[in-house]
Parts: sequence; structure tokens; C-alpha cells
Amino acid sequence: MVPAGSAAPATPLAIIGGTGVDIVTELKAQGPLPIDTPYGRAEVYSARWGERPVYFLSRHGAGHVLPPHRVPYRANIWALRHLGVEWILATNACGSLRKEWLPGQLVVIDQFIDFTKNRPATFFDGEGGKVIHTDVTEPYCPILRKALIAAAGAEGVSIAESGCYVCTEGPRYETAAEIRFFQSIGGDLVGMTGVPEVTLAREVGICYAALGLVTNLAAGLGESPCEPISHQEVTRLMQKQGVVVWRLLRRTIDLLPPARTVGRCPCTRSGCG
Ligand code: HPA
Repeated sequence: MVPAGSAAPATPLAIIGGTGVDIVTELKAQGPLPIDTPYGRAEVYSARWGERPVYFLSRHGAGHVLPPHRVPYRANIWALRHLGVEWILATNACGSLRKEWLPGQLVVIDQFIDFTKNRPATFFDGEGGKVIHTDVTEPYCPILRKALIAAAGAEGVSIAESGCYVCTEGPRYETAAEIRFFQSIGGDLVGMTGVPEVTLAREVGICYAALGLVTNLAAGLGESPCEPISHQEVTRLMQKQGVVVWRLLRRTIDLLPPARTVGRCPCTRSGCG
């Protein structure tokens, strides 16, 4: 019980970073702290941002050793839930399916289409004879998305307020024909790590938003139709934009209320949150 007149402590938030963004240094975070979960080990860095505990998780592990299909998505989300995290801000390197979204473009993702094939994607595996279907009509938290958009406005950073993320299995990049297909079904961005992270967060009732950073035009959309995509190109762009991404995340955290209001977003109305 918080005494009358004193501020409630701010609830924990986590940042999940992919390729390139060095948030550990920016946060002066301690770690990594290994957390053993029923789904394997997660490695989490720990810091404070003002009154708020902030955790950081590097999706591909230290030294970028885990390919997208081997990221321990369930262990990561389980560990963050165990730490009491109520909000997750994720960053995703993406290829652009839109010619007007060039490398450097930031996008507050609002939908996804899932083309992953081979990854454990749920906490609800039928244990105890219970079958649970999670609603993901609006998969990204509208309150966190609004905060990201407001942060971009406050920082004077140009941002696209919505975009549909197609998640592929990887680790290879796509063919030009796959990209034409993804465009035809309404995709705006393509990446390899956004799913099932977003849906696992929903299953445990954590508010989750993802900031897409365009690192390249998707396969076949470059100046010459056979221009290859390289991981170095992706990493270079993420590093170049790292400062802007951190400014946005920092400002977003500052704009959040100390705690969530249960029932105001779909994240707190579903799963076991
Ligand atoms: N395809 C898939 N994943 C990616 C890409 C891409 O073009 N760029 C960055 N991550």
C-alpha cells in the first residue's frame, strides 16, 4: 500500500534490442544477469531510469551469436515477466517493402503477418488439458504506440505512425518474388524477429510496442533488381541510427505514466496478465 500523497513506484519496463543499438552503454546497465526459466536461460541487463527499473535484453545475445530462429523468445519473455516487467519497447531492423521508406526510416509497427515456420510460439501448449486462444486483433499496445509517436514529435524525429511487419523465418533474406508477394498482401516491412516475441508478450499480459528501423530496401527493390542485401549494411545502418533510436526510447519512457491502468489496452485484458 502506497501512503497517501506519495508517488507510486514506477513499474518495470524492458527494452529488447536487435542488431546494432548499444542500449547497455546508454543505460549504464549492469549485467548480464542469467535467469533460468522453464524454456532455457535468458540474459538480462539491469538499470534504472529515474524511478523506473529498466531491463535490457539483447535478442541475438552478446556478440550477435543467435540467428533469428534460435532466439530464446519464450525464455526472454518469461524472464521479463518474472522480473515484473509491464512494458516492452522493442527495436527491429527491417527491410522496406515501400519505395518511399528508405534506409533510416522509423516506423511504429501496428500489425504483423507471420511467415515463421519453426519456432516455439506459445506458452499455452495444452498443459492441464487447457486450450487457450489469444486475441491479437491489435497485437501492439496502442498506449505504448501513442507514447512512441508522441516521443518522436517531441524529439522532432520523423516517423511513420503505422506499418505492417511481415516476419520471415530467416536466417536467409527473401527472394524478389517473395517480396512482391508480401507487398501484394499488404506488408510494409520485412524482418525475422518480431514474431513470436509480440504474441508471447500478449500471452503474459505485457504491453509491447516495436519500433521498426528500415536498414535496406527489401530484395529486388534496390536500384538494380539483383542488388544483394548484406548483414554489414544492416548493422551499419542500425549503428548509424542508434543515437536517434535511443533518444526516442528515452523520451518514450519519460512520457509513460508510473503504472498501467488495467483495462485501458488489450494487453491487460487478455492472457494471464
Ligand atoms: N529481410 C529480412 N530481415 C531483415 C531485412 C530484410 O530485408 N533487413 C533487416 N532485417
